[in-house]
Amino acid sequence: MSKLVYTGLNAGKGTSFKVVGGAGVYFHLEDGRKVLDGSNTGGPLGHQHPDMMETVARAAANPIINEGWFWKEREEAAEDVVNICFDGDSDWVGGVRFFLSGGEANDLAMSLAQSITGRTPLATRVRAYHGMTGMSQHLTVQPQWHGGLAVQNGKAMPVPVTIPIRQIPEPMGAKYGRITDNRPLAERLDGIEDTLSDTACTIIDYTQGGIYYDPTYQDRVAEAARKAGSLWIADEVVTGTGRVGRMFAFQGAASRPDIVTMGKGLAGGSSPVGAVVLSKDIIDMMEDKSWQTYSTFRGHSLTVACIRTYLKVLRRDNLIARVNHLEGIMERRLLEIAEKHPSVSRVDGNGLHWTVELHGPDWRTWENNTGEAPIASKVSARALEAGALIGTSGEQISLFIAPSFVISDSELHGILDALDYGLEIADEEHAKAA
Ligand SMILES: Cc1ncc(COP(=O)(O)O)c(C=O)c1O
Repeated sequence: MSKLVYTGLNAGKGTSFKVVGGAGVYFHLEDGRKVLDGSNTGGPLGHQHPDMMETVARAAANPIINEGWFWKEREEAAEDVVNICFDGDSDWVGGVRFFLSGGEANDLAMSLAQSITGRTPLATRVRAYHGMTGMSQHLTVQPQWHGGLAVQNGKAMPVPVTIPIRQIPEPMGAKYGRITDNRPLAERLDGIEDTLSDTACTIIDYTQGGIYYDPTYQDRVAEAARKAGSLWIADEVVTGTGRVGRMFAFQGAASRPDIVTMGKGLAGGSSPVGAVVLSKDIIDMMEDKSWQTYSTFRGHSLTVACIRTYLKVLRRDNLIARVNHLEGIMERRLLEIAEKHPSVSRVDGNGLHWTVELHGPDWRTWENNTGEAPIASKVSARALEAGALIGTSGEQISLFIAPSFVISDSELHGILDALDYGLEIADEEHAKAA
């Protein structure tokens, strides 16, 4: 019996496969199989990338130094984030603080917004996920990620939400199928100024719940947040540094956030990481103030070394152009797959992050009845038989594909072939339910 307290979709259970290694875009399993790593937003360079391996080995010689003491490479990593990630947005960017995870970065960005505005309530969009710590957990409004206990075949024991949370409608994009609400965007967002009027910030992400970027939506929400005095935080934890085919999702429209949060792949997957990037206006406002939040291992010497190497490789190897190339394959194949499988209800995505949604229970009705694997997990298990590990989002009906940027065309086809095979089980269940 494992002594590890597991997290996962089926309450209290471990995973059915055991990863014992990894190289390139493959995981190595205990039973000897090598399977394609299909859904890994934390690993943009795959496994055992030579530049990352060299960096981690070099960083082992660093001193053990906390966030409050000067460390040159931390300063340099902040410069790199500003100069490389915000290269076209140099008029906007003010400064960076590093964190331990995306959830922590969001939590602290939101508390900074509360401090600046003097307001307590916070806003997000429907179906959002912003992390599982502090206020990020409260702003994660997907029903399955309540942060508490899900009792097998029973009720949830959620964590009580301690701050007022406002939700605005989500964008309704779909490259195949559609989301249920057909009203025009303008109508759906009518009156959001009122919803945001007492909030400290409005935090928006660009992948979670299979909800992707929409430039018109962004400009409308930005305008409403500004009018309402609510700071706009762009949660680019997944999308930052190129996953959607440009450095940040928010760069797809003219409006600019007050704060950007980052995490996941920012350290090339070789160290935990989060970052809060503040606009020049906020940095100017903070000139006679200090942001009183600290943690021993934030901006760790290993983390900042990995950030520097990852950003160097991203630029040197022109990886964002590679993401754009791979997006073409992904879109074409996923649309073909959706046409072929009656169980697929919706496909959306961009760059190297795509969601495949199945017919089945509505995501809102997640009930902690975790005794039986949901349909998305069954598809995932069958895809694994065909050689690719494809993740579910935690919703019963949704899978996402997000491979590393260094995957070859044929390896990407391998993941999509495995999905195609895995979906046969969903088709069978769909036919039975009809
Ligand atoms: C959009 C978004 N924000 C924040 C987070 C939280 O990041 P972390 O798991 O590093 O805390 C996630 C994690 O999936 C995410 O998808």
